[in-house]
Order: sequence, then C-alpha cells, then structure tokens
Amino acid sequence: MNKKTLLAGFAVLGAIALTATGCAGSTDAGGDSGGGDSGSDTITVGFAQTGSESGWRSANTASMKEAFSAENGFDLIFNAADNDPAAQIAAVRDFINQGVDAIVIAPIVSDGWDDVLQEAKDAGIPVVLEDRTVSAPDDLYASWVGLDFRNEGVMAGEWAAENFGDTETNMVVLEGTTGSAPANDRAEGFDEAVEGTSIKKIDSQTGDFTRDGGKTVMEGFLQKYGVDGIDLVYAHNDDMALGAIEAIEAAGAKPGEDIKIISIDAVKDGMLALIDNKINFIVECNPLLGELAAGIVKDVLAGETVEKTYFVTDLSFTPEEAAKVIDERLY
Ligand code: AHR
Repeated sequence: MNKKTLLAGFAVLGAIALTATGCAGSTDAGGDSGGGDSGSDTITVGFAQTGSESGWRSANTASMKEAFSAENGFDLIFNAADNDPAAQIAAVRDFINQGVDAIVIAPIVSDGWDDVLQEAKDAGIPVVLEDRTVSAPDDLYASWVGLDFRNEGVMAGEWAAENFGDTETNMVVLEGTTGSAPANDRAEGFDEAVEGTSIKKIDSQTGDFTRDGGKTVMEGFLQKYGVDGIDLVYAHNDDMALGAIEAIEAAGAKPGEDIKIISIDAVKDGMLALIDNKINFIVECNPLLGELAAGIVKDVLAGETVEKTYFVTDLSFTPEEAAKVIDERLY
C-alpha cells in the first residue's frame, strides 16, 4: 500500500459543499483519488453497499466504483447486501478475514454494528462509513461522510408547513427502510417542523425505499382512506414517491394536484416528475460521495488526522427551480 497522500481539495466535486465536524484536525479529506499516486502498491478496500433499492443507490454505487478504481490506486471488493442487515455484517466479516487494507460501509440499519466494528478495530483495519450512520460508539470507526438526514426532514417539513400548515391537511408517510438512519432522521426532522400546524399524520408505513414498496403502500392507503381522504404524501425518497404516483394515477386521481407529494433525493426521475408537477417539492440528498470517501480512506491509511464526520450540503427544489437545473444535474 502506498501511504503517501496527495491533497487534492474539493474543486473537482463541482457543486458539492462540505462541512466537517468533530475533532479539530487539519486534513483534507478530498485526498487524491485522481490517479496521482506515485507508489506501485494498490489499496485493497472492501465496500459493503446496502443493495440496489433506488435510483439514489445506483448513483451512489457508480460514484463509489469510479472513485475506488484501479487507476486511482484501489482494488475494490464490492458487496451489495440486498437490504439484508445480517448479510451486510457477514460481508464485512468476510472483508476482515480477507485482510483488506480498509473497509467502507453504507450501513443498512443503524443498530447491530458494535461487534463487527470492534472485530475490524482489533484486526487493525480502519472503517470509513459513507451515507448512513450507526448507533455504535464513534471510536469504532475512523470517519463518516454523508448527508444531514434530519435536516432534510426539517427542510421538507418547513416547506409543508409553509404551504399547507394553515389548512386541515391529512398526510400519509412512505417511510424508508425500518431502522435505517435516513428513515429515522427524516421522520424526526419533518415531524418537528410541522408541529403545531394543521398537518395531521393519518398513517405511516415503510415502503423500504423502493418504487414497488411505495406503490404497494400507497395502494393500501388509497383503499383505506380514499383519494378524498388524503391531501399530502411525504415520501422518504423519490423512488417511493414515483411508486405513489403510479398508485394515485391508477386510482383515477392527479398526483401533485389532488394529492400533493413531497419527497427526498432529487434523482433524475424524481426531478422530471417534479417538473411535470406530479411531485410538488423535493429536498436533495447528494449520492456523489465516492471521491470524498476515497480521499478519507487514503488519509486514514496515511496516518493523517481526519474529522469524525463530514456533512455534504443538500439543496431543495420547486418545479420551477428543478426546470432551471435539470440539464446540469449529474444523477
Ligand atoms: O441512505 C440514503 C437513502 O437510501 C436515499 O435517500 C434512498 O433513496 C436510498 O435508498
């Protein structure tokens, strides 16, 4: 492994804005994933991805594979656990047994990581988390890079409060994967932002962050409450909102008009539905975390001080705002 770290900064990351918190280190977690290493040894990294549940996940996987490429000095062992927490922990254990140089995890759920993270620590293998967080003590991993899910929920809730907070509004929620950090935090942030308004949560169920899941759960809500009984859908991601759109249209109603929709991610299909006025508001969740994660891994292996958390800043879009930026979106 080449332990030399070249500091590249974030210029190549385009619109991504980053905030680091935690210990007061001076590292540049951008590292150099741009193929500038002069050494010959490659860094073997095991990456435990959640699965392939959404458009966001596809973009995240592509970003990770591009950053952890052979030309950037990495040998990436990729595992997608199909949203099965036990399978993901088994994959991490396998990486430890293989003696990889570092492990990167996008944890499906927050809980249950203490033992395997301790095993990685005991084996001297640094772990970097990307995307989702864990409830395990933070001395069991080197760093985390991702999005502020709670703030995403607050942004979505504040928009809902501003636009629907003064009239009686029956809301249903399509939750993300049960026990996952984004599902927990987006629910909490939204609920806090709409507290005291006339928005009433009449039901909430998991659609597991998938389009099919969103469609099925929305079909159930429509059967139970009828089109007239639901005013607003808050979907924890675009894929579930897109599934809900299908269900609403199949019920003979107009998504975005008869039933308003707010979602999170801002992936291409979601943005197109927003421009089409089938979704009313989207909060972004940027999946392009690969280069940041690769930089952190290189810095950690080089013995540089890294921050414990790196937050990437999210934007939000109305249909008009989405139309202005759609051509320059990268995912
Ligand atoms: O953890 C990020 C979430 O996971 C995204 O919002 C969702 O689309 C994905 O499946």
